Formats: sequence, C-alpha cells, structure tokens
Amino acid sequence: MYGRHLFICILPFLFLFYSCYCDETLDLNTYIIDLDASPLSRWTNVIEEFRLPLNIFVENIRSAVPSPFFYVSEAIALRLDHYIPQPYHDEIHSISSAANIRLSDVILLNLIYELRAHCTSILAVSTNGTFIHGRNLDYDLNTDLLRLLTFQAKFIKTTNKSQVVYYSIHFAGSVGLFTANRPNFYSLSINQRQTNNGEWWMNALMAILHLNTMPLFIFTRILFENYHSYEDIKYELKTKHLIAPVYFILTNGENEGLVITRNRLNSANTIVLNSSNPLWYLVQTNYDHWLEDPLNDSRRTTAENVLGVMYNQSQLLDNTIYDVLSVIPVLNKYTVYTSIMSPTNNLTIPIYAKIRTLDHKSKYLLTLRQKFQRSKTSFIEKVVKFITFAFLLV
Ligand SMILES: *[C@@H]1O[C@H](CO)[C@@H](O)[C@H](O)[C@H]1NC(C)=O
Ligand SMILES: *[C@@H]1O[C@H](CO)[C@@H](O)[C@H](O)[C@H]1NC(C)=O
Ligand SMILES: *[C@@H]1O[C@H](CO)[C@@H](O)[C@H](O)[C@H]1NC(C)=O
Ligand SMILES: *[C@@H]1O[C@H](CO)[C@@H](O)[C@H](O)[C@H]1NC(C)=O
Ligand SMILES: *[C@@H]1O[C@H](CO)[C@@H](O)[C@H](O)[C@H]1NC(C)=O
Ligand SMILES: *[C@@H]1O[C@H](CO)[C@@H](O)[C@H](O)[C@H]1NC(C)=O
Repeated sequence: MYGRHLFICILPFLFLFYSCYCDETLDLNTYIIDLDASPLSRWTNVIEEFRLPLNIFVENIRSAVPSPFFYVSEAIALRLDHYIPQPYHDEIHSISSAANIRLSDVILLNLIYELRAHCTSILAVSTNGTFIHGRNLDYDLNTDLLRLLTFQAKFIKTTNKSQVVYYSIHFAGSVGLFTANRPNFYSLSINQRQTNNGEWWMNALMAILHLNTMPLFIFTRILFENYHSYEDIKYELKTKHLIAPVYFILTNGENEGLVITRNRLNSANTIVLNSSNPLWYLVQTNYDHWLEDPLNDSRRTTAENVLGVMYNQSQLLDNTIYDVLSVIPVLNKYTVYTSIMSPTNNLTIPIYAKIRTLDHKSKYLLTLRQKFQRSKTSFIEKVVKFITFAFLLV
C-alpha cells in the first residue's frame, strides 16, 4: 500500500525524467568481406567508404591518449613482420594505405578499440534451450564519431560456393572482432575488464616486447577462421596469453553459455550457464561478478533486476534481451550499438543490431516530437518500460 502511494507520488517525476532523454536508433549498413580475396584488397571498398570519419577519429585519439599508447603501437608496427601473422599483417597494411593513415596509427586504432570498450553482455536461455546472446557496446571516447564508423560485416568465402563464414558488428579500421557470430558454431562478445593498475600501458608494452602474448584484434580473427569446434575455442579463450585482462562471453547456442574472466596469462574464473544451473541468464559488464557493482555504475544490477523481476524464462523472446539492453543505465549516453545474436540455426536472423543514441532531449526536441507523431505505440511502450523500471527502484 505504502509502496503504491509512493509510486503514484513519483509518477509525475517519472514523466519528467523520461522527457529528458531521447533514444534514437539507426540501422547498420552491411559490407561483405571476402576471405578468399587477397588480404591486400579485401578491406579496400569498406575503408574507402569510411575514410573521412576514420581520419578524424584517429586524429582525435592521438590528442586524447597517453603517450605509452604510442610506444605500444609503434613497437608493434616495427615488429609487424614477426609479430602479426599473415593474412592480418597484409590486411593492416592495406587498411593503412586505403585510409591514408600511418601503419602505427592503424595499430593504435585497433588497440584503442579493444581496450576502451565498456560494455554490457547478456546470455539468456529460453525454455526450449535456445541461447540468446545480447550486448551493448559502450564507448566513452568520440562516441558520436564511432556511431558513424559502425557497420555489419559479413565475412564470406567465395571459392567453395558462396558461404557466409561469420558475422561481426564492426568498427571501420578494426581488424578484430568484438561482437561476432559464427552460425552453427559459437558467438562471442568481449568486454573490457577494469584493473586498478596505473602502470597498465607500460605492462602492455612489456608484454608485447617480451612475452608470447597477443592483441585481441589478431587472436579473435584466428579463432573465428581456424577453430571449428566450440570446445577448442573455449580452451583457447581460457588459456591464450593476452596483452590485457578481459571478459569473454561465449555460447554455442545449444546447451552452454560462458562468462570467462581473464587475467593476462590465465583464466581467473568461469561461470557456466547450462541445464544444471538454476539461473537462466548471465549479465556481465566491466567488473568481476563476485564483486558488487560500483555505486556510480549499476548497469549489471539493473539488467539483472529487470530480467529477474519483469520477465520469467518462459517469456524469453528474441526481443526481450533487446528491451533489457534498452533500460537506462544499461543503455546510456556512451552506448554505440545494441546487438542480439545466436549461433543456433533455429533463429531466422543470426545477428541483429541497431546504432543507439541516447542523448539529452533539449537538442532533440523537434526530432522527438516528430517521432512521437510517427509512432505513438513505440513511445507509449517506452513510457511503460520506464514506469516498470522505476517501480523496481521503489
Ligand atoms: C532446432 O531445430 C531442430 C530441428 O530443426 C530441433 O531438433 C532442435 O531441438 C532445435 N533446437 C533448439 C535449441 O531449439
Ligand atoms: C566446401 O564447403 C562445404 C560446406 O559448405 C564443406 O563441407 C567442404 O569441405 C568444402 N570444400 C573445400 C574444398 O573446402
Ligand atoms: C554444467 O556445467 C558444469 C560446470 O562446468 C558441469 O559440471 C555440468 O556437468 C554441466 N551440466 C551439463 C548438463 O552439461
Ligand atoms: C565512477 O567513479 C570512478 C571513480 O570516481 C570513475 O573513475 C568512473 O569513471 C565512474 N564511472 C562512471 C560510469 O561514471
Ligand atoms: C511466467 O509467465 C507466464 C506467462 O505470464 C506464466 O504463465 C507463468 O506462470 C510464469 N512462470 C513463473 C515461474 O513465474
Ligand atoms: C526457441 O526459443 C527462441 C527464443 O524464444 C525462439 O526464437 C525459437 O523460435 C524457439 N524455437 C523453437 C523450435 O520453438
């Protein structure tokens, strides 16, 4: 009773709260990357489309990152021949010349992409056993520009019939994969892991110079192109020496999902979602799951509350996870895209994504009004979602 009164009291404020934000979505363009084409030309068409924003992005990064970043990228560029295997070596060269960006800056770009991504990943299993894999990619550096650099990549092989090998939600200039689905095999998303170590960049440099470690932008491509078994990829993700701690979120779509918490040289912990686990979902952001979320970043707690309170397993549909990823602050002003995928061949769409822009409304007053006129239901749906979410907080 008390709760209900409180709820009615705060209702007007909720509308106020809602009216402060505007969530715009945009479809992604799809580009085809032919893995049977020469690595010196397979990215050329894509990169030409993105040359201008890519150059601005790199310039902005150069002025925003600490200098050890440059040492790392230059060290890798110098050692490219020994360090980066073919065909990725040639791909990096060709991206550099197509975009007219220095080789070391292409490497810098790839490192920045993989080291700065703050994300939310969700795995959920429906009562019929299908695993849905969702993720928001949040990026706090030049977020608007990054939205312009995002596309869907379809990696195909043309010589042996025309077959799609895997899909990725991709950033222009990036060689590696952060959100990728190989139908019938596995889907993978990668979240950055926070560390308290202030010497981090120097450690990465040391790791590259002295140890057999690998940046994700090479590792992920090697996995998706050379590992045909889920068990093998699982083993690699748990054991390969990396340049930075990270979370891997992986599922085979059929009977298992995993969140692997990685240190640089080994695996710190793995949670398994399978039929022996009473849970039907896992949420991972950028903090170890055995710790509380920090007070100023409750993305994981919020997503878990929404899944646990608003939904039950029998109601899990493909768009459920999208809706959970659309609740503030899981969706926030740094969210670049939301993506839903599943490697099971029972789903009609193997990967689905939208560019997201959650921004302060004052800038978007007119747009919001036009949107409201165009689609009343979706607006009302959003209001309902907000009220329900606020109910959880009461
Ligand atoms: C996928 O479909 C096949 C038949 O097409 C069925 O045997 C299997 O149980 C389904 N798997 C899931 C996870 O729904
Ligand atoms: C061609 O692709 C099929 C699957 O589509 C595969 O079974 C076969 O081994 C491939 N052949 C070669 C020569 O790669
Ligand atoms: C679920 O995963 C746990 C931990 O790896 C394992 O012990 C258990 O056998 C698995 N259950 C099934 C049904 O595969
Ligand atoms: C939370 O606070 C920490 C420490 O003040 C800060 O570094 C971090 O950026 C904050 N995170 C968010 C999402 O505001
Ligand atoms: C889940 O939701 C459905 C439909 O609303 C309902 O019939 C079912 O009893 C619920 N199950 C649980 C365990 O709450
Ligand atoms: C299993 O559940 C998923 C998610 O709700 C749904 O998309 C899929 O069509 C279902 N599969 C079957 C065979 O019913």
